[in-house]
Amino acid sequence: TWTTESFIEESIREIRSQVGEKRVLLALSGGVDSSTLAFLLHRAIGDRLTCMFIDQGFMRKGEPERLVKLFKEQFHIPVEYINASDRFLNLMEGIIEPERKRKLIGYEFIKVFEEESRRLGPFDYLAQGTLYPDVIESADTNIDPATGKRIAVKIKSHHNVGGLPPDLRFVLVEPLRKLFKDEVRKVGTVLGLPAEIVKRQPFPGPGLAIRIIGEITPERLEMLRDADLILRQEINRSGMYNELWQAFAVLLPTVRSVGVMGDARTYAHPVVLRFVTSEDGMTADWAKVPYELIGTIANRIVNEVPGINRVVMDVTSKPPGTIEWE
Ligand code: XMP
Repeated sequence: TWTTESFIEESIREIRSQVGEKRVLLALSGGVDSSTLAFLLHRAIGDRLTCMFIDQGFMRKGEPERLVKLFKEQFHIPVEYINASDRFLNLMEGIIEPERKRKLIGYEFIKVFEEESRRLGPFDYLAQGTLYPDVIESADTNIDPATGKRIAVKIKSHHNVGGLPPDLRFVLVEPLRKLFKDEVRKVGTVLGLPAEIVKRQPFPGPGLAIRIIGEITPERLEMLRDADLILRQEINRSGMYNELWQAFAVLLPTVRSVGVMGDARTYAHPVVLRFVTSEDGMTADWAKVPYELIGTIANRIVNEVPGINRVVMDVTSKPPGTIEWE
């Protein structure tokens, strides 16, 4: 009979026999799939695993630091932290169109991944958090005709763009390929991953970049980060975190409105709150969170985040809206 424990034991045996004495590269995102994968591989092959975490500069406040600290200090799994935020920010100068934003970020991610894997390598294998639904989607692709093995032609970042050059087409190690998401969570839990990772709400690959509508500037990033942090603090405090598929904030382009603060008139920016419930992200309802909670978040944001003087709420379901704004 299949148990999580037997799956883990069996996987560790398989990984060891596949990899032998060779080196494996893993692109860590901080999500449940790549984190579970890292735990499993580290159990199996120890320091022949290299985890690489690329910070594109669009993560939430404190998140990269938190992730690296968790892995290094608590899990004792070394992580190569790559701070690429400057190059991504430069790249975003003047970019407004959502698809262009996503593409540029996706391609730059691949470029950084290539450079860094050359610098840290050579590696023989690439570990990927391919799940059963992904295997079905890409059943006949990615097979090396010479060896018959599944190779990485693309890297499964959450960007879905960008092919790898022929010399970086590592052989894939995909121990999660027979699992569904809920099974990955169980495996992660048994391996010792904390709830903050196992139960983390989805977060898009391009990160806050697609929650800043219009141009991304350091100032606007800072504003959204601060608003988002307050939102997350209050959602956590309310105990509603796990009931929501996602809860986040969105910054609008160049909209300003008049307000009053003390004796002075303000002319500043609004921020949008977005709370949704969903089973799989394909459809979603806007979540009817308590008024008190919305009020607390709105009050704190307006009082604590310079540049924001108004808070509005997105009450659109999917369809016809999407969850993200870009
Ligand atoms: P939409 O906005 O299409 O989002 O309703 C559905 C779900 O997908 C997430 N999302 C992404 N996840 N890379 C990801 O890994 C992306 O580029 C991306 N875009 C959207 C979104 O947060 C929601 O959970």
